[in-house]
Amino acid sequence: MSLVVRPSPIHSVGVYTSKPIRKGARVVEYAGERITLEEADRRYDGISRTYLYGLDDGKTVIDGHGLGAYLNHSCDPNCEVDEIKGRVWLFAIRDIAAGEELVWDYNLYDDEDPAPCHCGARKCRGTMYSREWMAKMRRKEARKKKKLESAVAGNGRNETGKGTTSSRAPAPLNEAGFSR
Ligand SMILES: C[S@@+](CC[C@H](N)C(=O)[O-])C[C@H]1O[C@@H](n2cnc3c(N)ncnc32)[C@H](O)[C@@H]1O
Ligand SMILES: [Zn+2]
Repeated sequence: MSLVVRPSPIHSVGVYTSKPIRKGARVVEYAGERITLEEADRRYDGISRTYLYGLDDGKTVIDGHGLGAYLNHSCDPNCEVDEIKGRVWLFAIRDIAAGEELVWDYNLYDDEDPAPCHCGARKCRGTMYSREWMAKMRRKEARKKKKLESAVAGNGRNETGKGTTSSRAPAPLNEAGFSR
């Protein structure tokens, strides 16, 4: 397979194929050093460009090197990733023409730092996080908002538990929902 790294409109550089690739073909391995989650956090704390892939065991991370680690993310990918016996491969999920950039859906999770997507696809979801992770984050935000609202409402209650009719504005709240 003839893969080349060159500038990409998505981000910095990406991986392109100079020959057509058939749907289902194994394209390239996501190779690299196996490290722990803790080591990955230590190495990449505060760094937005990473080459990490978390294995299914939930404990091991590949710190990628080589071509496989240089594929950019797209919300409308032409490749997908699969773990087979502890090794990670990228497969073509449709026929890919010569000259196309190879991209896969990172489906990021387990982090809260923003990860805006610039893939340019018509159906771009605006983030490299997975839909499931985004839904989880929205539920978390909603719970936080509800907690804040009930803390605000609680400020208007007297000792009998009945609400007062005070027209004072509620005390300002900090992020944990407690009044300062
Ligand atoms: C594995 S690298 C991909 C190669 C990278 N373009 C480079 O030049 O090193 C992953 C990083 O590329 C960037 N990236 C990849 N796809 C992106 C996208 N669709 N939108 C924004 N940034 C992207 C992010 O910084 C991400 O952490
Ligand atoms: Zn996108």
